[in-house]
Amino acid sequence: MKNICSILTLSSLVILALVSAIAVSCHRKPATELTYSPERIEIGQAVVEGWNCGFCHTPEIKGPDGKPMPDPKRLMSGYPSDEEVPTIPDMVITSPEWMEFLDNLDSTVWATDNLLIFSANLTPADETGIGTWTVTEFVETIRQGRHRGIERRIKYPMPWQELSELSDEELLSVYEYLMTLEPVNNKVPPSIVLFR
Ligand code: HEC
Repeated sequence: MKNICSILTLSSLVILALVSAIAVSCHRKPATELTYSPERIEIGQAVVEGWNCGFCHTPEIKGPDGKPMPDPKRLMSGYPSDEEVPTIPDMVITSPEWMEFLDNLDSTVWATDNLLIFSANLTPADETGIGTWTVTEFVETIRQGRHRGIERRIKYPMPWQELSELSDEELLSVYEYLMTLEPVNNKVPPSIVLFR
């Protein structure tokens, strides 16, 4: 009798453990599920602001005090295609001021060793932004450093290596936040080779 009792107690404990494990795993939503909950959008915005994505991805306008400020109408829309592509004089390339010169460029365009490179449009515009991207494509772009996760390499100075350390939840939240922004139809030009 005592044996049967302990077998019963043991098996009910095992069943209890199984049931609670199943309950926990049901409760924990898979990280690919989009919710667009206010919490997610808030996390997404916090990550974007914390990492200063807008410094590179939002074009600037002259603020009321004459100083440049992010253009609230073109948040995260990348290098403005209607802006004249800056020319880089040979003199600058060979001078010690080369790095200083970089600082003077609009921060949606960057000059690296031999490329002029333009920051991407991350608004949900269908043709020119990430409007047609799936969340997996977005997460994999950051994780693999490739356009839509599998295509061409994402170039410096986009800090994808650092950003790939973000959790699934954080990257999903960034995607959801970006998807709630105003779509801006702006086709960012491909990078330009400066000298060969
Ligand atoms: C230091 C500047 C800089 C910062 C900061 C930055 N980016 Fe970028 N990002 C770029 C540039 C430049 C490109 C274009 C790279 C290329 O064309 O290869 C880019 C490309 C991307 C792309 C790929 C777009 C495409 O069409 O393939 C994604 C996605 C992206 N950035 C997301 C972000 C997010 C999210 C953040 C902040 C968490 C961020 N970036 C912060 C400069 C930056």
